[in-house]
Amino acid sequence: MTKFPERVFSGMQPTDTLHLGNYLGAMVNWIAMQETHECVYCVVDLHAITVFQDPDQLANNIREVTAAYLACGLDPKRSIIFNQSQVHEHAELAWVFNCVARMGWLNRMTQFKEKAGKDRENASTGLFVYPNLMAADILVYKGTHVPVGEDQKQHLELSRDIAQKFNNDFAASIAAHGHGDQFFPLPEPMITGPATRVMSLRDGTKKMSKSDASEMSRIALTDDSDQIAQKIRKAKTDPEPLPSETKGLEGRPEAENLVGIFAALGGTTPDAVLKDHGGAQFSAFKPALAELAVARLSPIAAEMRRLLAEPGHVDAVLADGAERARAIAAPIMRDVKDVVGLLRAG
Ligand code: TYM
Repeated sequence: MTKFPERVFSGMQPTDTLHLGNYLGAMVNWIAMQETHECVYCVVDLHAITVFQDPDQLANNIREVTAAYLACGLDPKRSIIFNQSQVHEHAELAWVFNCVARMGWLNRMTQFKEKAGKDRENASTGLFVYPNLMAADILVYKGTHVPVGEDQKQHLELSRDIAQKFNNDFAASIAAHGHGDQFFPLPEPMITGPATRVMSLRDGTKKMSKSDASEMSRIALTDDSDQIAQKIRKAKTDPEPLPSETKGLEGRPEAENLVGIFAALGGTTPDAVLKDHGGAQFSAFKPALAELAVARLSPIAAEMRRLLAEPGHVDAVLADGAERARAIAAPIMRDVKDVVGLLRAG
């Protein structure tokens, strides 16, 4: 079996300001993985346009999300930070994967069904093949580890299926042209931590999401201390005090969500949070949570404001990242063409 060097890849869409779910579900792990791995972190602008984006807004959002990456603690010297559209190999490999993935596989994607809603006929074809582009994002770097929130699990399973089918379909060519016995690794999803699925502050059964109409449902990374405190104060809860064990959170989605957020922000576990706060009313727990959230998040918002006041720096990070990303992706894409028979020396 081919042993692939470990390489981390992940991305976020520049469709709106990043929120607490993006931060706790993915970013916290991205930051930690910089310590141990070579990491490639992408602002996935080609994914964003699967749903119409106002062009000026999109251009701003790409910079804002990059500023958020840096403000949260991604280090552009250690990690590669860039926007997807600047490395054309993503789109090129995605086309090859459009020809590898099967309609039946994509038809099963729950996120497409949710996003397309009832008006499926009117969804862009890009939205339908979106998971193929995701697979290309990872595999154009032969990425092996992918830190994401829980909602991306199904997409990553599809990435593994695509890698596997490519390896099988082209096995003879891969071997004949000296590319080992497996061309692509099967990327491993890394879905870890106490907040892999942060829920809406207004409805504990719904995921916290950029597309929720209510701004009160999510804490944006640009929110100031007052906004953070107000959103937590108004968060939906039930009338019972907190239980002293996690079992007591069953059937209490709002309570479970706030305890999970507290644990993730404090770098601890829900059990430890309930040990300290079991028996407390929300009127006492919410101010403690707000204080913790403000302490963790307000420095990020301040740093984002500072970075956005000098966009030259953000642009330079993206340009440098794109060059380093291309240096990895270009030879892999050349090998893909060799394997598929699209590019052969005479
Ligand atoms: P996106 O932009 O929706 O979200 C970015 C990351 O944040 C996580 N996330 C959450 N985690 C916990 N609770 C939540 N409420 C929550 N909301 C979002 C997501 O799981 C994700 O990790 N398709 C991807 C972007 C992408 C990608 C990739 C990811 C494109 N290519 C390749 C990994 C590898 C997306 O739309 O994420």
